Amino acid sequence: PVLVVDFGAQYAQLIARRVREASVYSEIVPHTMPVAKMLEKDPAAIILSGGPASVYAEGAPSIDPAIFESGVPILGICYGFQTMAAALGGKVGRTGTREYGHTETSVQDQSCLFAGTPLDQSVWMSHGDAVQEAPAGFTVTASTEQTPVAAFEDPKRRLFGLQWHPEVRHSAFGQDALKNFLYHGAGIEPTWTTGNIIDEQVAKIREQVGDKQVICALSGGVDSSVAAALVHEAVGDQLTCFFIDHGLLRAGEREQVERDYAESMGIKVVTIDDSERFLAALEGVSDPEQKRKIIGHEFIRSFEAAQRQLIAEAGADGKEIEFLVQGTLYPDVVESGGGEGAANIKSHHNVGGLPEDLRFELVEPLRELFKDEVREIGRRLGLAEKLVARQPFPGPGLGIRIVGAVNRERLDILRAADLIVREELTKAGMDSEIWQCPVVLLADVRSVGVQGDGRTYGHPIVLRPVSSEDAMTADWTRLPYDLLARISNRITNSVEEVNRVVLDCTSKPPGTIEWE
Ligand code: XMP
Repeated sequence: PVLVVDFGAQYAQLIARRVREASVYSEIVPHTMPVAKMLEKDPAAIILSGGPASVYAEGAPSIDPAIFESGVPILGICYGFQTMAAALGGKVGRTGTREYGHTETSVQDQSCLFAGTPLDQSVWMSHGDAVQEAPAGFTVTASTEQTPVAAFEDPKRRLFGLQWHPEVRHSAFGQDALKNFLYHGAGIEPTWTTGNIIDEQVAKIREQVGDKQVICALSGGVDSSVAAALVHEAVGDQLTCFFIDHGLLRAGEREQVERDYAESMGIKVVTIDDSERFLAALEGVSDPEQKRKIIGHEFIRSFEAAQRQLIAEAGADGKEIEFLVQGTLYPDVVESGGGEGAANIKSHHNVGGLPEDLRFELVEPLRELFKDEVREIGRRLGLAEKLVARQPFPGPGLGIRIVGAVNRERLDILRAADLIVREELTKAGMDSEIWQCPVVLLADVRSVGVQGDGRTYGHPIVLRPVSSEDAMTADWTRLPYDLLARISNRITNSVEEVNRVVLDCTSKPPGTIEWE
């Protein structure tokens, strides 16, 4: 693999993705991993990421300089560039000048990293410190007005460095620089494709599972679907999936999941209707966090019951169920291993939040992948596009889209409004344009209206269309006015109890995507 050494901040993930986009397999490792351990992974190259700190700050993350003697090709980016410079005898300092954002750079055409790219290019900078002198043996290959040493390289030792961030799209030729490093600087063949991953994973699953039975909890979302499809590809009917109906699903969702999996994928799906129990547990509860906790807790109860039932059934023909499929993705793995104290904004719930005493061996074929790679694999496995391209829908479902207590009546109102919104968005061809569009019922709010020949005192429905790349940040989507008008008309005309439709025009931050 190519190892991306994480010095903090969010850069490492993006770099790892870009390396994979260049068809080279990459993994993220923390900067605290001993160099010997990194070398045990037999890396084809190492990339040192950017980081939030100054190289000379107290407690600044550092790396054992032995890494530069290992003979492995290395690219240092931003903080990684400065670390490399400092470790090899160059000079790094506070220059007093800071560069943030778009910066014009002049590069050398004789360099490895910039071969085939224009001599003047716009790059994305974000730094206070700067390399003032390159270490001996290095050639300076780029400079900006403020930063004379903006890139350097020593092709003999196969060490390279960039002050700017090639991984962000704002650096016009960033991906070229990365590819030049990987293919030419490090001599790596770009052979990593989603096709290889499928073959590899199928073989691995077969080896792991043998002739045993496997179960999978489907959420209807992309990750669990693709994980199930991969396992099905590997072991066919040894896989049984179940889908828990918690009563908080959107209109037609359960039927759609049953149809999509059973018919188009040939996967056995057992639906378990636990809606009574979920709704009973939620009765009278309007605090968002409490709702989330209750739903998470009830999921676990459902899961355990489903498991017992499936084991009892399978026990009849003497086959134990020992394996459980989970759609865990690489970012989940990295984030839970990162140990950084991110603030708990919301208790995000996954169907995969399993009790600890479940005695299962996990099958997690997507553990090394990013979301877009997962989608690509889904397509290659022949999953319907509508399944692969599905917009995110939160595990707690409509339970967190009713502001106020949840009950059947309110759920029916929200379902009817939500269905109209989805239909209209699809008809207008907006599905791929927006990230998702939560529809929220303000059940505890009433306003006065006039409908037909009388006064109404009904509830508002909120439309929350957002555009986003990763849900960490989002902007509200500027839907066309006539589309908004159609949605508003249809909802107020056909959904009793709703006499007002409002648009949420807040980005994230400060708002989150969901209202609860
Ligand atoms: P927020 O509201 O935090 O949402 O801006 C970010 C993204 O996460 C989805 N979301 C969830 N997904 N379980 C999930 O599986 C949850 O509990 C949950 N809460 C929010 C939300 O729809 C958005 O895409």
